[in-house]
Amino acid sequence: MTQSQRIRTVVFPVAGLGTRFLPATKASPKEMLPVVDKPLIQYAVEEAVAAGAEYLVFVTGRTKRAIEDHFDTATELERELEAKGKEKLLQLVRDTVPKGVSCIYIRQGEALGLGHAVACARPAVGRREPFGVILADDLINSGDRAPALAQMAEVTAARGGSVLGVERVPKEQTDKYGVVEGESVAEGVTQVRGIVEKPDPEQAPSNLAVVGRYILSRNIFEHLERTQPDHRGEIQLTDAIASLMGEEAVCAYEYAGDRYDCGDKLGYLQATVAYGLEHPELGPAFRRYLYGLDHT
Ligand code: G1P
Repeated sequence: MTQSQRIRTVVFPVAGLGTRFLPATKASPKEMLPVVDKPLIQYAVEEAVAAGAEYLVFVTGRTKRAIEDHFDTATELERELEAKGKEKLLQLVRDTVPKGVSCIYIRQGEALGLGHAVACARPAVGRREPFGVILADDLINSGDRAPALAQMAEVTAARGGSVLGVERVPKEQTDKYGVVEGESVAEGVTQVRGIVEKPDPEQAPSNLAVVGRYILSRNIFEHLERTQPDHRGEIQLTDAIASLMGEEAVCAYEYAGDRYDCGDKLGYLQATVAYGLEHPELGPAFRRYLYGLDHT
């Protein structure tokens, strides 16, 4: 990765309540739900680090302490593992954040929407730009390819401006996503001319849906400040991006990879199966188990 491709700061909005997973998320964050043996937020952090992140900014809220603890030193646990000579486990525990990467925590006192969460990160983003945003419940498995945010960073380096991670969804699902329209300018790259939040399928301008990956120009903060709450009282990132587009280029990039919506129980189970099958230790036994199930 070249210096210009690095995304040094990545923001993780993690203040959401995760009501779709109650009661599991009553006292612990939905971002700590494990897919096989790693919490969702750790997959997200690994993707950020692979895109060159040095500053991880978590926009957090009540009941989210476990996220801070996860990325902190676990002194007692480390001492115990060391004493027992469990080197491999010790490494796993120590490697949740690589050396040289800093975690910054900012509280979002009120649940006023994704746009508001990103605006809360402003003091930590400073002048470093552009910066990334990862929504941890969209888990993307890019296989042998570079992780999704790193793929998008290449587009930013080549074209400048902001880049939104998108994928094609069945038309009847457009009301779950921000949806973009525009013209194709290169393989997988669309110059965005319009973006709307959760349109009804009949009104959707396309089926190109924004998933939880953004590389944003720092100017987004000015637009977020001017963005009015929507009918639900939430400040939408989508509305601020629509406003930013009036001033500078915004592209959408169809990254290579399989996305699992882990904010949804079915998507979460699908992710567990996919990652379970790929797991170096569990994979073969899990595959045998699945094939042995009665499929009637
Ligand atoms: C948010 C965004 C939406 C985007 C989606 C991706 O919606 O507002 O534009 O498509 O994330 O996961 P949410 O899922 O938080 O309602």
